[in-house]
Amino acid sequence: MESKILVTGGAGYIGSHTLVKLLEEGYDVLVLDNLSNSKLETLDRVTSITKKKFEFIKGDIRDKNILKEIFKNKSINSVMHFAGLKAVGESENFPIKYYENNVLGSIVLLKEMALAEVKTIVFSSSATVYGQHSNNRYDEKTPTKPINVYGKTKLIIENILRDIKNSDDNWSIGLLRYFNPVGAHSSGFIGENPKEKPNNLLPYVAQVAAGLREKLFIFGDDYPTVDGTGRRDYIHIEDLSSAHVRALDYIQKNKNILFTVNLGTGRSYSVFEMINAFEKVSGKKIPFKVVERRIGDLAEFYADPSKAEKLLDWKANFDIKKMCEDTWRWQKNNII
Ligand code: NAD
Ligand code: WQD
Repeated sequence: MESKILVTGGAGYIGSHTLVKLLEEGYDVLVLDNLSNSKLETLDRVTSITKKKFEFIKGDIRDKNILKEIFKNKSINSVMHFAGLKAVGESENFPIKYYENNVLGSIVLLKEMALAEVKTIVFSSSATVYGQHSNNRYDEKTPTKPINVYGKTKLIIENILRDIKNSDDNWSIGLLRYFNPVGAHSSGFIGENPKEKPNNLLPYVAQVAAGLREKLFIFGDDYPTVDGTGRRDYIHIEDLSSAHVRALDYIQKNKNILFTVNLGTGRSYSVFEMINAFEKVSGKKIPFKVVERRIGDLAEFYADPSKAEKLLDWKANFDIKKMCEDTWRWQKNNII
């Protein structure tokens, strides 16, 4: 039997785009997702885009029996681990839910991987693990001090993976710290489709442009930045997905390693710059109102992506215009 990649959370935003890339690269894939924040239809759309088949199991990473079945019967050789909860505000209000889903879920998964001797994993971490620093350009040596529960769950999982690697050199682990993923597949078939009111800037802007929301609330214009709004390193989802395939390839070829890399473009844009770019590509006016700063927001941070560029021979290619164009195409065409 051919060996397969297990993609946890493969029906979600980043997982589904990476699934497209994996299938296009010829990987055999099994998706495990409990659909708590995604829809089955997304997976059908992945099939439409790629014209490739893959297996899907609806299930939870905290369910050791499902994992045992998968590792016993499906010839898995590597795992891409996207499954997790990601709403920062919610994580502060429901910490147990986040520790249980993200940390406990990862422990159950890692234990079953170890038992099945599957020791190759790419993990979705986040720039949130860094917290606040005086220098805005974060490289991987920047100390980690997350300021919210969500970020703490990511750091705990990273540390568990480091400890596993220290105890058993046969593991190959890629820790990918994403900055701000945005955009959608260029087909307009899959994209980010928040079930609730969007927490993130670009999905909110897109919903305002589409007339689904009246106006954008800008969280503060008194930051020490050029126009007073927060600046972030937005990275196109297709660039982010390509990096995953490179990371998987790297840990499959270079056994017994653990690496941590930032995935970003290396430059930041302000909220106003994002609004202007979106207005240009959509031809829509984005009404806004400046309100209080959002608790926990930083003025500016962006990636030093040079380590990922060197190690994975990868670079983010898509610019702010393409990020907005693809978001807008997706927003206009699809609410699934
Ligand atoms: P998403 O919510 O769209 O996707 C996560 C997927 O995991 C969903 O399909 C959900 O149904 C599934 N899932 C959640 N808990 C599960 C469980 N216990 N068992 C099985 N499936 C489960 O989120 P996303 O934006 O695609 O994020 C993917 C990963 O990347 C997450 O781990 C997230 O923390 C991380 N990340 C996201 C961002 C971002 O801004 N989107 C940034 C940094 C890191
Ligand atoms: C970007 C900028 C806001 C919404 C979050 C998570 C992080 C990671 C990515 C998972 C900021 C401003 C936003 C709005 C606004 N996710 N803004 N009005 O906060 O950098 O990162 O998503 O790992 O963990 O914290 O992204 O898109 O929420 O905000 O003014 O309605 O837009 O203040 O300056 P953030 P964001």
